[in-house]
Amino acid sequence: SKKSEFVVVANRLPVDRVTDGEGEATWRRSPGGLVTAIVPVMQRRQGAWVGWSGAPDQDLEPFEAEGLSLIPVRLSARDVEYYYEGFSNATLWPLYHDVIAQPVYRRSLWEVYERVNRRFARAAADVAAEGAIVWVQDYQLQLVPKMLRELRPDLRIGFFLHIPFPPMELFQQLPWRRDILQGLLGADLVGFQSRDAASNFVRLCRRFLDLKPQGHEVAIEGRTVRADHFPISVDANELITLAADPGVQKRAAQIREDLGNPASVLLGVDRLDYTKGIQQRLEAFTELFEDERLKSGDAVFVQVATPSRERVEEYRILRDEIELQVGRANGLYAELGAPIINYMHTSYTREELAALYLAADVMVVTPLRDGMNLVAKEYVACRPDLRGALLLSEFAGAAAELHRAFLVNPYDIGGTKNRMWEAMHASPTERARRMRSMRKRVIEHDVDLWAKEFLDALEDGR
Ligand code: UDP
Ligand code: G6P
Repeated sequence: SKKSEFVVVANRLPVDRVTDGEGEATWRRSPGGLVTAIVPVMQRRQGAWVGWSGAPDQDLEPFEAEGLSLIPVRLSARDVEYYYEGFSNATLWPLYHDVIAQPVYRRSLWEVYERVNRRFARAAADVAAEGAIVWVQDYQLQLVPKMLRELRPDLRIGFFLHIPFPPMELFQQLPWRRDILQGLLGADLVGFQSRDAASNFVRLCRRFLDLKPQGHEVAIEGRTVRADHFPISVDANELITLAADPGVQKRAAQIREDLGNPASVLLGVDRLDYTKGIQQRLEAFTELFEDERLKSGDAVFVQVATPSRERVEEYRILRDEIELQVGRANGLYAELGAPIINYMHTSYTREELAALYLAADVMVVTPLRDGMNLVAKEYVACRPDLRGALLLSEFAGAAAELHRAFLVNPYDIGGTKNRMWEAMHASPTERARRMRSMRKRVIEHDVDLWAKEFLDALEDGR
């Protein structure tokens, strides 16, 4: 079979296999920021993408989609439950996001995580050409770098973590902390979103593996591993093109009209996830009505909550809580035919999202913890008119670059409420000043530069 010089390994393929009402299988774009970022990179560089189809028990041959060469890895129903929903999303996800939810530590989940990581490593080893570059992505596959190096010492291996990497006091809880660190050290370059994440990793290697890191470099078994930060970004040109599209602009005007042309449209776009701070932001917004600073017709909140990890307990509870909260707020403050919160439990296309971004006066991005948050950068890229305002959490990786946003501590409901009010009422000059500076950053540091900087650094050490 054909070998590739450039291989990406991620838990997910860029397309997700879904079964429609008639029982027919179709493909659609997979959810989440990882796929949004890696698709344009792979479309420009070619290469193979090793990943899972998003459905259990699928035996699929390699195929092409979105102009990419895709190599499916099979997961059984039990693998999905133990490796994906279990160790990845009930253990690592909460642990790496400040233990906002309690992580589950179970040996049976770990065993399957190890076994599935080995399967991904084998699949990558099979498709990589001699001396190829293999780029492993995210927390679901932290053991792959070491396993792959054992199979194929000729490869150049990079790893990038899309989510935060926790400080010592939290990471220390993990019963398999040494295995994870050793797994990552199989790479030549380990990339993180932030400076803090990279230094947490280096500090942990010193503490738990007795290594002696020098700055960004860790020497192990006669090799040098570099750990550094590479903040991920968006395909700014894609969003600029969408913002200029007459169809998208027309749709944006229609959305405002459908919402009853309120003075302010506020927008949230998130996977339905407890890290995103959806409840806190809706509480802040609702309090503005309770305080009688807003009344029906002044402002409408549109919250898009994309279905995510729906079989994991914490996600089910969260959905119920949010839906109760939205119902209560509308019950108290809506008028007939005019809800104050429009809640959409669905996933939108890139075009519809761009129209929503254009329709929104205030984009509300208030995660309790987020590796980066691409939605914040997409909104900025999508507003060449300089008329929108961005309300952004200090706990999103994006805040390190977008410091001209209206920054908030999402745990502080009173502070968030006041900042939200301020963003709604900022003068056109102030909005433009803030937006111009943020756009400069996002356009200069787009996803192509991110990939180039990472891959150049990976080549450097050869
Ligand atoms: N997204 C989308 N359709 C939706 C909601 C979100 O295509 O209905 C995309 C959004 O444009 C962004 C990604 O999903 O590119 C979410 O990435 P982000 O980094 O904000 O959060 P993540 O979901 O990765 O935690
Ligand atoms: C985040 C993670 C990705 C993941 C995405 C969607 O962006 O960093 O690795 O793919 O969420 O989550 P899902 O569990 O549906 O793949």
